[in-house]
Amino acid sequence: MNRSFPNTRLRRLRQKSFVRNLISENQVSANDLIWPVFILDGKTQRQKVGSLPGVERLSVDELIKDLKPLVEKGLQAIALFPVIDENYKSELATEAYNPDGLVPKALKELKNAYPELGLITDVALDPYTSHGQDGLLGSDGQILNDETNDVLVKQALCHAAAGADMVAPSDMMDGRIGMIRKALEDNKFKNTLILSYAAKYASCFYGPFRDAVGSAKNLGASSKESYQMNPANADVALHEVELDLNEGADIVMVKPGLPYLDIVKLVKDEFKVPTFAYHVSGEYAMIKAASEKGWVNEKKIVMESLMSFKRAGCDAILTYFAKDVLLELDNSGIR
Ligand code: PBG
Repeated sequence: MNRSFPNTRLRRLRQKSFVRNLISENQVSANDLIWPVFILDGKTQRQKVGSLPGVERLSVDELIKDLKPLVEKGLQAIALFPVIDENYKSELATEAYNPDGLVPKALKELKNAYPELGLITDVALDPYTSHGQDGLLGSDGQILNDETNDVLVKQALCHAAAGADMVAPSDMMDGRIGMIRKALEDNKFKNTLILSYAAKYASCFYGPFRDAVGSAKNLGASSKESYQMNPANADVALHEVELDLNEGADIVMVKPGLPYLDIVKLVKDEFKVPTFAYHVSGEYAMIKAASEKGWVNEKKIVMESLMSFKRAGCDAILTYFAKDVLLELDNSGIR
């Protein structure tokens, strides 16, 4: 018996939906989605983000309201991104580890409202620096690696103390995972998870995010290419992941998402560790823009995109679509 036509007709397996469903290798469920949220100080605040239609910056009381139906639908975790008032931004990003700052306050309120919901915090200085970079600047304009790490450690400890379940360094400084892990161990936070943005590329797909958190104009024309990775390279992603795992990362992340699924696959195949991807703001904005024009079917293109992340080997996906997708979830899962 050889595997050739007409003994083999692959279309037989595609004739009816029951068999298509039975042989489906991957699925997307609520357990795969993390919702990134932009948080504001104050009460009853809701601000639309122009370049991210459907995404709003929310004060924590409003976020708590919006989360209710999502938690009921099985949302497992959110990733917090603070929008910091210009008055609190500085050269040294000291607000990043203020125990009374926006993120620690939000963590406490959110934990109180939803004790089971996973709370992931962004460990990076860009919302807090007056120049919009993720690191401290030297007098020559270079990003200072080790000095930045000292601040990231303080920030991660501050988040852990306020109730973060998982800290997620997204800055790409060398050695920061090891330093954060050691500090967590030394300060009795041995169960705080580290989600390392291990393979984060210097990408143009982050544009709308920088509008959302208000770092775009501070950053101006300067780039992040001295720390984020070159989109031309794949091998170095494995090197970065290996180092971060050795330093104590529990989960690694690839970012951006769809254009970098080859990297997800490489990482998953090589290391077999929990691997997430970030379906970033520019990817969301492109789908929204084409959908608004009626050029693509939004629901279908979103589900196909999320399925592609799963097929590539992602365990979970950070996506601004998590909210819409979950609200449409029915008992049969997400299709
Ligand atoms: C910065 C950070 C960025 C994103 C998450 N954390 C932007 C950047 O590196 O400039 C981008 C997320 C997105 O585009 O959705 N620490």
